[in-house]
Amino acid sequence: MPVITNIEDLRRIARKRCPRVMFDYVDSGSYDEVTRDANRAELKDIRFRQRVLIDTTGRAMDCELLGTKLALPVAIAPTGLTGLVYGDGEMLAARAAEAEGTVYTLSTMSICTIEDVRAATKKPFWFQLYVFRDRGFSEEIIARARAAECPVLFVTVDLPQRGQRHCDIKNGLTVPPRFSLKHAFDIVTKPAWVARVLFGKRKTFGNVDDYLRRKNIELGTANWSQTHFDQSLNWRDIEWIRKAWPGKLVLKGILDVDDARTAVAAGVDGIVVSNHGGRQLDGAPASIRVLPEIANAVGDRLEVLFDGGIRSGQDVIKALALGARGCLIGRAYLYGLAAMGEAGVRKALAIIRDEMDITMMLTGLRDLKQVPRDVLYDGGEPRAFPGN
Ligand code: FNR
Repeated sequence: MPVITNIEDLRRIARKRCPRVMFDYVDSGSYDEVTRDANRAELKDIRFRQRVLIDTTGRAMDCELLGTKLALPVAIAPTGLTGLVYGDGEMLAARAAEAEGTVYTLSTMSICTIEDVRAATKKPFWFQLYVFRDRGFSEEIIARARAAECPVLFVTVDLPQRGQRHCDIKNGLTVPPRFSLKHAFDIVTKPAWVARVLFGKRKTFGNVDDYLRRKNIELGTANWSQTHFDQSLNWRDIEWIRKAWPGKLVLKGILDVDDARTAVAAGVDGIVVSNHGGRQLDGAPASIRVLPEIANAVGDRLEVLFDGGIRSGQDVIKALALGARGCLIGRAYLYGLAAMGEAGVRKALAIIRDEMDITMMLTGLRDLKQVPRDVLYDGGEPRAFPGN
């Protein structure tokens, strides 16, 4: 068993154990991956102030995000196709989150269904909605999330259509997976992945499969969003969703301060400052770059969550210092899942938690509920576009 000390170790193992088509799906960004890379580079470029001789015993990182009590301000981001990254991936990741005292967010485009995850867990999980053109179907999905007692609905607003990820096209990504001769070597060298997926509960988009069958729709992977996501979705529709959803409502994919202000006016409970992990608008700013302005503008009126590029506990504390109330992790947990299933997700969360703890000690922080900006060197101003 290799020694695992950080998220990059999990990524290396994931690359060995997961077929290329799925590893690339997780790892890649859209187009030239400028924004995906900027998310990492700009987070890395922020520095802490090293503070000494401060008693930090009794450090606390527990918090409440969107009404859910968590052991640490880090939740699992919604990711599609997770049950093909590792068989039954959504159920396993949700269980891992629960065991580590945090919460899992299930994507509409998951492999396991809302009901599968409900049955696999004891505590509530969050649900993420993609709005379909067929409003009746979108309402059906919302009703299922309510029935599963999900306390929070994330509406993802930065994906009217998928940004192109070149590797998915080149690798021939499909759902359910279809393998041709060109995948043969890759697949025969990943027998554990094959067995997990083969004996997993489902192999296609669990939440929408039944609807597609009813409507006689064939859903190719490349065009699922093009054909069925509602590209006319606009601010007025948020009112409709607000009425249909009595729980906490969050808009995921806000990257502009004007949109953040409109979100306040729309009466939502929270936003996720996010560029979808650099998988949508390539050339959009790193999400850490826009976080301070957005948090300053609206942070006292709704909950500001953050994602994009988080691979360590240090990254989490940087985001908290710049105004986030909590963070979501996407690839960091997926690398763990692809490497070792449920244990790998737990490992990813434990790595991040331990890194947060040590960082608290070395920066003189006792409680993550209030992280002052001056925990960062120079107030955390990143240098202009590092790495470019
Ligand atoms: C995503 N993301 C995403 N977001 C969403 O709202 N619904 C979804 O179905 C997906 N699917 C998805 C798949 C994969 C493989 C990735 C990597 C990401 C975006 C995700 O929720 C989150 O915003 C980013 O992953 C955050 O960036 P990091 O942590 O991956 O750098």
